[in-house]
Amino acid sequence: MVNNSARLRSRIKALKREKNAVILAHYYTTPEVQAVADFLGDSLALAIKAQQIEADIILFAGVHFMAETAKVLCPEKKVLIPCPEAGCSLAESCEANDFATFKAKYPDHKVVSYVNTTVEVKALTDICCTSSNALQVVEAIPAEQPLIFAPDRNLGAYIRKLTGRSNMVLWDGACHVHEEFSLERLLELKRLHPEARVVAHPECRAYILEAADFVGSTAAILDYCGRSDAGEFIVVTEAGILAEMQRRYPSKTFIPAPPDDETCGCNNCRYMKMVTLENIVSCLENEAPEIHIDEEIRKQAERSILNMIHIK
Ligand code: 13P
Repeated sequence: MVNNSARLRSRIKALKREKNAVILAHYYTTPEVQAVADFLGDSLALAIKAQQIEADIILFAGVHFMAETAKVLCPEKKVLIPCPEAGCSLAESCEANDFATFKAKYPDHKVVSYVNTTVEVKALTDICCTSSNALQVVEAIPAEQPLIFAPDRNLGAYIRKLTGRSNMVLWDGACHVHEEFSLERLLELKRLHPEARVVAHPECRAYILEAADFVGSTAAILDYCGRSDAGEFIVVTEAGILAEMQRRYPSKTFIPAPPDDETCGCNNCRYMKMVTLENIVSCLENEAPEIHIDEEIRKQAERSILNMIHIK
């Protein structure tokens, strides 16, 4: 008997063909969702891919802001999200009306926002960034220009430290996964694995980043693990990325860093894990739920995303 997962995978394959659909998935989704994706990537790569795709339908296996970004860039395509409730604690930490009030206090500042924001916040933004290009984006803006950086205070503080840019105010938001890592437990793991390199995402708190050998986006971490001569890594980001690490580098060992409370499973983004093979099948069959965006807002948000994509 064909097992359920194999049946769902073959149904997804048939639906993709029948509907001329492609699936984009983020590294934080489950391994079985990653396995049905046509493109797997970090948020920057997926935003760029969405722009280049030749298909009638894009199904975004990821969280809501990522599907919204794809729709902003591809208004003529049908963009589907299998689980619209899959939010993002960072995007939710920055509500557009509150952000507009904050922005009004700094009329001379330009706004740099992380893509982990709603489309309404992107519309209030001058230039978006992801964790892959935040440094490049900030460095591309003249040093004397004051900035607002939103919504991740940890990534903002890290970029401020790298650039020495004191004229950058930070919105006080954070990612519930990356904030939970425990320094004590990380140091304990380092003692147990003295040869291992610590790789961390810049959404982690400053004391975690200081203990890391390498800090970077999911894509940059993946590259570093390939380049490095080390055989063992302690991974301080969402644990979904371990599937891709093991797939790419089967001879290396990857150890997920524990959160403060090991029973909470908080090194897993509960939102990313809401995407399943079942809801992908149903989404492709019904061509719903679909992302819809007001055209005025979309155009304003598009400008801030394209400003980012055009920075080389
Ligand atoms: P990346 O830019 O590394 O894909 O990070 C996305 C994200 O949502 C991290 O919380």
